[in-house]
Amino acid sequence: MKIYRVAIIGLGGMGNNHALAVQAEDDCQLVGGAEVDVGRACSWKERFKVDAVFDSYEKMFDQLEPDIVINATQSPLHYAPTLAAARRGIHIFCEKPMARDLVQADEMVQVCDQHKVKLAINHIKRASLYNAYALNLIQQGEIGQLIRLRAADKGGRKSGNALMAMGTHLFDWMRLFAGDVEWAHAHLLQLDGRESTVYDIKDAREINPRDQNDGLVLGERCFASFRFKSGVHAEADFRAETPGDDRGYGIDLIGTQGHIALRESVGTAMFIHRGQHHLPQQGWEQVHIEEEDNDERGQPHENRGRLFLQRLMLRDLIAAIEEDRDPAASGRGGVASMEMINLTWESHRRQERVYAPLTPRDHPLERWQREEGVNS
Ligand SMILES: NC(=O)c1ccc[n+]([C@@H]2O[C@H](COP(=O)([O-])OP(=O)(O)OC[C@H]3O[C@@H](n4cnc5c(N)ncnc54)[C@H](O)[C@@H]3O)[C@@H](O)[C@H]2O)c1
Repeated sequence: MKIYRVAIIGLGGMGNNHALAVQAEDDCQLVGGAEVDVGRACSWKERFKVDAVFDSYEKMFDQLEPDIVINATQSPLHYAPTLAAARRGIHIFCEKPMARDLVQADEMVQVCDQHKVKLAINHIKRASLYNAYALNLIQQGEIGQLIRLRAADKGGRKSGNALMAMGTHLFDWMRLFAGDVEWAHAHLLQLDGRESTVYDIKDAREINPRDQNDGLVLGERCFASFRFKSGVHAEADFRAETPGDDRGYGIDLIGTQGHIALRESVGTAMFIHRGQHHLPQQGWEQVHIEEEDNDERGQPHENRGRLFLQRLMLRDLIAAIEEDRDPAASGRGGVASMEMINLTWESHRRQERVYAPLTPRDHPLERWQREEGVNS
């Protein structure tokens, strides 16, 4: 059995979660980490008993020559380390959102292809066994023809931040069922009902200094419609409810003969309703997949199953390397879900349907500010 030498950049919240997953896999060895915060570097080193911790990811690449690097930093630092790793022949497992804009995201995919390394994005829901089960039910005709998706964010954030932080997951998850998007038609509002304008564009950290550092964002509520090339229609709501509730997050898969509801951002709650119409008084039947819901002792997985899913994500990346295929949560998929976010913003700005591929590829909000002479 080949042992994959895995290193991690960014030893914060996700850098700890990924390390747990790496150390749980028999064919992986956690060889080192890179972190600029000395306190975080020390506690990670102690927790995972790994001595090789660097203050620069490039030094780490050159000294450790890992097979795989997990980039668990925030989005400003997804682009440069991906290019640096790819040029050294290191496969990359990168956190979401994959980049700040489509220019960076496209180049990440292109450079990885050029250097024949795999690029996976941590769209963690891709690993859920519930997806395969739901896809199989659809294939078997259990809900008739899939015609519509209805997706909802969990709230707790204004929509601009939510689009980057959670929209990337939600849109990737929608793509799993509906395929590639054809067009978007969306609008963004402020909480008082006013349509968002170029003057409402802000940096994500201006809206909430404790939120992820995801660059320019817009809007406090968002309603987006999409048509997929498969003919499926979809809607996604970002309603900014406070507090947020993860049980409200998810997708309804609506068929001509029934509905499937998938909920929650890590562990999954799944329900099915069979029948052409879903009347308010009719209940849903809950579906359980024991392996995903509970550990080997029959107890719910710790941390709502994050470790379980994280391990599956890592296994899929290794299978992708060995089978020379794209990972299930691929860089190409990361670009496509980022494109859905950008189509949403661009459609709001133009007040019309906007077709994929979006051109030009630069950040639509940055361009809007530039064209209107507005500085954020
Ligand atoms: N996929 C998921 O389910 C999921 C869940 C939560 C967060 N995330 C994503 O994971 C990423 C990280 O989130 P987090 O909450 O762990 O953030 P965090 O801020 O806790 O951790 C990031 C770490 O990167 C370090 N860092 C910054 N610059 C660095 C550099 N040049 N070299 C090395 N380290 C550097 C920071 O000091 C920090 O410790 C974000 O993009 C976030 O959106 C994904």
